[in-house]
Amino acid sequence: MTIRAIATTPFPGQKPGTSGLRKKVRQFREAHYLENFVQSIFDAVGNMEGATLVLGGDGRFFNRQAIQIILKMAAANNIGRVVVGQNGLLSTPAASCLIRKLAAKGGIILSASHNPGGPDEDFGIKYNSNNGGPAPESITDAIYTRTQIIDSYNILDADDIALDELGEFTLADMTVEIVDPVKEYRRLMKRLFNFKKIKKLFRNGFRLRFDAMHAITGPYAKDILERKLGAPKGTVVNYQPLEDFGGHHPDPNPVHARALFDLMFGEDAPDMGAASDGDGDRNIILGRGIYVAPSDSLAVLAANAHLAPGYENGLAGVARSMPTSGAVDRVAAEVGMPCFETPTGWKYFGNLLDAGKVSLCGEESAGTGSDHVREKDGLWAVLLWLNILAERQESIAEIMKAHWRTYGRNFYSRHDYEAVDSAVADKLMTDLRTKLEHLPGQAFSGETARTADDFSYTDPVDGSVAKNQGVRIVFESGARIVYRLSGTGTEGATLRVYLERYVVDPSEHQVETQVALERIISIADQIGGIAERTGRAEPDVVS
Ligand code: G1P
Ligand code: ZN
Repeated sequence: MTIRAIATTPFPGQKPGTSGLRKKVRQFREAHYLENFVQSIFDAVGNMEGATLVLGGDGRFFNRQAIQIILKMAAANNIGRVVVGQNGLLSTPAASCLIRKLAAKGGIILSASHNPGGPDEDFGIKYNSNNGGPAPESITDAIYTRTQIIDSYNILDADDIALDELGEFTLADMTVEIVDPVKEYRRLMKRLFNFKKIKKLFRNGFRLRFDAMHAITGPYAKDILERKLGAPKGTVVNYQPLEDFGGHHPDPNPVHARALFDLMFGEDAPDMGAASDGDGDRNIILGRGIYVAPSDSLAVLAANAHLAPGYENGLAGVARSMPTSGAVDRVAAEVGMPCFETPTGWKYFGNLLDAGKVSLCGEESAGTGSDHVREKDGLWAVLLWLNILAERQESIAEIMKAHWRTYGRNFYSRHDYEAVDSAVADKLMTDLRTKLEHLPGQAFSGETARTADDFSYTDPVDGSVAKNQGVRIVFESGARIVYRLSGTGTEGATLRVYLERYVVDPSEHQVETQVALERIISIADQIGGIAERTGRAEPDVVS
């Protein structure tokens, strides 16, 4: 086995986003492309000699090959030990859990989250730090800078490691340990939740459908829900991780998780429906005939978390991304705990969690999590819901109704306009920004603007500032419109418009969401000129 230093040229392409580098598989397979990025991670992070790294991915096409390359490069860069999930699999939250458990230097996670997989689809790679969370901007910037000047990388000439066998192997001087991807994660879940109570819930006939969408949560859900908690066989569907996710997008939304939505709104709906995404960090929750909006789910979890053993002493505080609805704020105010509003993206929760300022956090985009790891966690959210249901012995619809009666209902929806011409989208945002100071006091079809700004965030822990995080307009009634451009889209620009209206009167709580928001939707168009500028009469995705 010899170490080779391969000459290379700097990395083409733009700055990786907050979720690492996401590109087409085709691009990743080009000569030196993956290698350049991996070497840049090692160089930028520094002090890798003898360190322990965690490595795994969501099993999509190219996962195995990428793992072999990374292992050989890790050995050639004198890394001490790499802990890999069996068959190269680790869900994003399980990788975070392992990094923390092993006190590893960090981890490399291979995933393009909810994007489709296959030879012509997407692949991704990101680096997580020793707290188990996505690397902070200082590190991702340093990785990017390195990719722009890199001229060689190190790789070991060696045979592939068998990824399907548990145990320890050596690769030159480096140890490779292949571990059960579920074990540590299951241990953590057992500590947080009352498995006995949840078992009893299933024994008494509670019916759940968990759709793993042929992605990474399959093995986790099968093991924990069916084998450990006694949910009937068949509870977890599409549990076999496939390299192309069976040809679907592993994105748990009404379009891609259609079968689950149809089931839950159909005649023979079970008590609960849930699904997760490609890498296992997102979740959606449905009850019989009801979809729980992620912003509402966060609020319900915040109000009821104390029913689960891991949170029985209450929460230190909560956090939500700015575009997420204010439903959780109302719970925090009632309990008297702090509530933080952060920019979009999980990494902004890291400092708050590390400093013990918050125990629970979430985003409107189907992400919920807690201080148990430093990623959002799909299966964790399902287990917390199950624990709450086992304690409360009410249906999901009853819990939602009761929640809205207590706190009022924040009707909420996100409208996405995809593949918009970038210049058009930029102009729309610039024009909005120049309008902001004139908006307060202006009336629009029965709503008067109270405040208007471009969200800026100062991290309460390290004082860093994130500017231009989205234009928000709040009305006297408490209604709110937020406009921002996606940071994860791959084609043109994606304009996201977040719509919210707060309703106290319970007799209005059963209205269909889009109907409840009609006026706000039309005001959003009036102020932003969306239809006229984009030429679209309707958004591409409504969630
Ligand atoms: C989207 C979501 C955001 C999430 C991110 C990564 O980002 O809106 O909440 O953190 O994916 O999963 P966006 O495309 O809006 O920038
Ligand atoms: Zn994901």
